[in-house]
Amino acid sequence: MSENNSEEKKDSPVISSDNSSTKEITIDDKIDRRHFIKWITVGWAAFIAIVAGYGSLVLRYLFPNVLFEPKQSFRAGTVDDYVIGEVSEVYKEKHGVWIVREQDKLYALSTICTHLGCTPNWQAAEAKYKCPCHGSGFYKNGINFEGPAPRPLERFKITLSDDGSIVVDKTKKFQQEKGEWSDPESFILV
Ligand code: FES
Repeated sequence: MSENNSEEKKDSPVISSDNSSTKEITIDDKIDRRHFIKWITVGWAAFIAIVAGYGSLVLRYLFPNVLFEPKQSFRAGTVDDYVIGEVSEVYKEKHGVWIVREQDKLYALSTICTHLGCTPNWQAAEAKYKCPCHGSGFYKNGINFEGPAPRPLERFKITLSDDGSIVVDKTKKFQQEKGEWSDPESFILV
């Protein structure tokens, strides 16, 4: 009895009406519509995925991966920020520079070991920079004295701006072995 009823239900049309006409919607029609909506949804999802993929390619083209390095020129406070006889490590991490103040001058020393480019550590107690990679040692002024480093650390251009700020410019280097440490741009007289 119930089987018959369900058979009847399946085969019998669902009748709906509006003001103008009477429409018959069968179960098959409903299934077709459901399939249609499902495939439309899948189609849209695929379309959006493709557009997003191309969009990301276009963005990568317009904004390629760029390595943003720290600025090559930076302000490093004023002369009074540095203590005579000390090595300042304030700009070591960000700019790769030690600021060294002596009695009568101040200079910017590169933190790159001249052997294979590691970063030495300033050891205040021993007044030297010691490279952890192969043991090179440099005096406070940057001159190498032990280990495989073939030459002193390099210095960067350092000047005073009109407002008294120290400006370090890493685009210009000075090498002691070339006699460049006597260049007036390689230090500031204080
Ligand atoms: S890189 Fe500094 S000693 Fe080798």
